[in-house]
Amino acid sequence: MCFAAASQNLAHTHSRAAHSAILLLALLTMSSVPPAKYGFVGVGTMSSAIVRGLCTLDQPPPSIVLSPRGAEKSAALAKEFGSIVSVAASNQEVVDQCDVIFIGVLPKQTEEVVRALNFKASQTVCSLVSTAPMALLQECCAPVAKDQVVRAIPLPPVAKHHGACIMTPRHPRIMKLFDALGTCVAVETEEMMKKMMPVTCLMGQFYAQQRATHQWLVRQGVDGEQAAKWTGAVFHCVSYDTAHATAHTFDELVDEQTPGGLNEQVLRELTDAGSWTALQDAMDGCLARIEARPAPKKRKRPYESTEEE
Ligand SMILES: NC(=O)c1ccc[n+]([C@@H]2O[C@H](COP(=O)([O-])OP(=O)(O)OC[C@H]3O[C@@H](n4cnc5c(N)ncnc54)[C@H](OP(=O)(O)O)[C@@H]3O)[C@@H](O)[C@H]2O)c1
Repeated sequence: MCFAAASQNLAHTHSRAAHSAILLLALLTMSSVPPAKYGFVGVGTMSSAIVRGLCTLDQPPPSIVLSPRGAEKSAALAKEFGSIVSVAASNQEVVDQCDVIFIGVLPKQTEEVVRALNFKASQTVCSLVSTAPMALLQECCAPVAKDQVVRAIPLPPVAKHHGACIMTPRHPRIMKLFDALGTCVAVETEEMMKKMMPVTCLMGQFYAQQRATHQWLVRQGVDGEQAAKWTGAVFHCVSYDTAHATAHTFDELVDEQTPGGLNEQVLRELTDAGSWTALQDAMDGCLARIEARPAPKKRKRPYESTEEE
């Protein structure tokens, strides 16, 4: 074989190898979850968001079985994702047909619903119930192994693969699932998970900050629609840099504000107003409720709300 032909052949072989490598890389980076039959007992806001997120992955799971309640959401998901989602005739049928069962009922319904189910030792149960204690879940789910009972608290943007989920214990299969639907933080113990929970209670105040910003803009004479679009876009944009934060990210970003600049001015004024102390006081109060302790003493000094009535 002449040199030109040989090198052409080699280039061809290389490009084929490169093509295969790219294909393999693409397959590896496609969002997917461990193959299993996933079931949901209680199909309300949270379960629906997870099912929607799973069904819209590049590689969705082959089968998702839903409980007949809530009927409306189950039927809508089965209609939209008919090749993946089916609705069982009862909660027990969900359990009988699946390897991994999510519990998505309200806290007050949990014990009665889970106690009535017969599980198999080979199954995994993931409770989405924010307050159901692990010991109770493990007892109600027997003979499921204790380390196969998981508590997870995801947030609804899992539906759009931009969720955040705190869970315990570090269960690889459930971690992989919630990582495919956004970011999952798994901690070793239920005690540590409880300490993480007040962060999920900051949603309301975040939206209230946006509402106050919007109201301020409208008072300046800005059109309501433009004010809303701008406010939403800026909050979304500035939080982008912290989506995958490390231990130093927040210090670095706060320190980045130009000394004497406008950002630093707002930061200083809100610091002087005790805003961060008030935030951490509110989180102390949340944690006390989560841990069923009396409310701790507030450190914040009283100051007037600047929110419009
Ligand atoms: N929503 C969130 O953002 C969020 C975030 C984190 C954690 N969570 C947790 O997720 C859980 C569900 O919250 P959610 O907001 O999704 O509540 P939800 O919308 O009220 O859904 C609860 C679902 O449970 C169903 N249900 C009631 N009794 C049942 C039974 N005996 N068997 C089967 N299903 C039954 C209800 O069906 P019917 O409509 O037929 O009554 C309803 O579809 C809660 O424990 C909550 O703590 C929620």
